[in-house]
Amino acid sequence: MKKATATAHPNIALVKYWGKRDEALILPHQSSLSVTLAPLSVTTSVEWGTAADEVSINDEPAKGSELKRVIAMLDLVRGGHGFARVVSHGNFPKAAGLASSAAGFAALAVAARAAAGLPRDVKAESVLARQGSGSACRSIQGGVCVWHKGSRADGADSFATQELTERHWPELRLLVAMVSREEKEVKSRDGMRSAVETSPYYAEWTRDAEAEVPRALAALRAKDLRAIGEIAEKNAWRMHATSLAADPPLCYLKPQTLEVISTLAGLRRDGVPAYFTLDAGPNPVVLTDAAHEATVEAALKKLGASSIVRCHPGGDATVS
Ligand code: DP6
Repeated sequence: MKKATATAHPNIALVKYWGKRDEALILPHQSSLSVTLAPLSVTTSVEWGTAADEVSINDEPAKGSELKRVIAMLDLVRGGHGFARVVSHGNFPKAAGLASSAAGFAALAVAARAAAGLPRDVKAESVLARQGSGSACRSIQGGVCVWHKGSRADGADSFATQELTERHWPELRLLVAMVSREEKEVKSRDGMRSAVETSPYYAEWTRDAEAEVPRALAALRAKDLRAIGEIAEKNAWRMHATSLAADPPLCYLKPQTLEVISTLAGLRRDGVPAYFTLDAGPNPVVLTDAAHEATVEAALKKLGASSIVRCHPGGDATVS
């Protein structure tokens, strides 16, 4: 078989990856922890043996750095298989406010290996996905995954493992709220580089995030929404504080982001469990549970969120 199709979900980090110790291999300074997000997914097929590499993403030919990154991943699998045709579709629009690169590189890694006749191997897939986009290594498996930073120079010990399956806490909800449509000005890749190079808080950020991973896992294992919510908020604030202290300062928050954050605090005072996390952009992802999902969604809509995508813990990347 020279062709395979794989589907992977994106993930949201509750303890963030924010900074590389090796830019080429994508090795992080700290471990991180995430929840895999259904129903969002990317499906990618790879067919080896074409006349040249051809890459299409959402029905458009890939160009520029996106194309380069896909070809770099094909190069890692290529061996004697020659060139490949890559066709990728995401089921979530840009308006979902969530990057598709984690799901995209996870699906590509799984499909490229399967099409080359390699057996399923979640560790090898995670190591490969990591080299496309760091966070993609946490989208090979479902539920709650931890990306272990590793210490080897070749990155062989820097991959994600599944710590809890998606069946552990199916009532957990993650609402992706689009409150600002402004394109983010600084991509994660550049934002984290500037934090590593110029933020005086960087070393402390790293130490703190590393220590939060086991605490976050314990809170998720106990299905303690308040505990995981408080850890997620603290970790997001600290990631953003690290970048606010960079030179030049980097602020991803918009006025609407702060409105959501203060509204969630108000909801909590009324007994509604709702906590935010924030990636490198203005749109929060809100943690709550199935019983409070509708109340939280209504509050976010009242604030003018243009779209809200309801997510729950998703499963493993699959080959079809
Ligand atoms: C803030 O994985 O997109 O979402 O490795 O440079 O491709 P590259 O970066 P990427 O960064 C994700 C950063 C984050 C936090 C996280 O997902 O852990």
